[in-house]
Amino acid sequence: MTYILGIETSCDDTSASILENEHVRANLIANQNVHEIYGGVVPELASRAHQQSIVPVVDLALKQAGLTARDLDAIAFTRGPGLLGSLLVGTSFAKAMGMALNIPLIEVNHLDAHILSHFIKENDDSKVPDFPHLCLLVSGGHTQIVLVKSPFDMEVIGRTIDDAVGEAFDKSAKIMDLGYPGGPIIDRLAKEGNPNAFKFAEPRISGYNYSFSGLKTSILYLIRDNLKKDPDFIEKNKNDLCASIQHAIVKILMQKLCLVAKDLNIKTVTIAGGVSANSAMRNVFSETGKKLGWTTFIPPLQYTTDNASMIAIAGYFKYLNKDFCGLDVVPFARS
Ligand code: KG4
Ligand code: ZN
Repeated sequence: MTYILGIETSCDDTSASILENEHVRANLIANQNVHEIYGGVVPELASRAHQQSIVPVVDLALKQAGLTARDLDAIAFTRGPGLLGSLLVGTSFAKAMGMALNIPLIEVNHLDAHILSHFIKENDDSKVPDFPHLCLLVSGGHTQIVLVKSPFDMEVIGRTIDDAVGEAFDKSAKIMDLGYPGGPIIDRLAKEGNPNAFKFAEPRISGYNYSFSGLKTSILYLIRDNLKKDPDFIEKNKNDLCASIQHAIVKILMQKLCLVAKDLNIKTVTIAGGVSANSAMRNVFSETGKKLGWTTFIPPLQYTTDNASMIAIAGYFKYLNKDFCGLDVVPFARS
């Protein structure tokens, strides 16, 4: 049995997880509500909140797993990309704990971890993707189509040239003054709306890359023009607006994913990252997969948004390879 402690502090969630091989023994997340009133993450406040939460969250994870720190075999932590001040908290904590326990440290790339979240086993017969497979990584900071050849060999085939898809959700919600983070709110309101009520400009970008800035502008103009005619336009059409925006975003995501899968002749396809929690995204992805004969993998909701179990599973692969890092390792903000 190998016990890995995973630590994730790249943005505004302090998370600790303990894996027994590929199985989750504990997965704790302390959310930071302090950012809500600012309508976005305030980096300085995020690092302070990580400082407050990291010790109790790790302590609770050990208790929930029924283990003590001495039972751990290694500590995996997010090295980047993310907010530097936030990453420094997790990295420094991992170093100190690793040194005190005299166990190896494993640095993990946050994006690789989202992609590898599919290898966390819920039970003994959990199916995992084979290699190579395609992953559509959709989060608050990234939008990528990745060819996953092995846990250590991933090639980005397409990426966004401007906004990430999570930003497209969050910025749309901001235009409508719905709250932060906007993705889950749009998802909820869209359930009562008509996805074909409003049409927005579609990106015209060749190849495998994405662009979301045109869509954002199109949403902004449509709302601005209609508000001139009716000041209650947003309130009256909230659900239809959310459903239409969500529909447009999912359509853009799926078009390029289908193109890459066809060109590369890959039939095993996964989605990962915060936006893979979106209910329309999950439905359309799974329906498209059925139609095209793909084997699809959708992460359980708790492993879509940032969590430390994905860091621990990525760490577990590296542990098996004895791929450890030294105490001189430093976090990085950008990939
Ligand atoms: O992966 P994640 O937790 O953090 C990053 O690595 O960026 O993704 C956060 C993003 C946010 O933009 C949030 O609005 C979006 O994921 N998100 C959703 C949903 N849940 C989270 N977007 C659409 N629908 C959801 N249900
Ligand atoms: Zn993430």
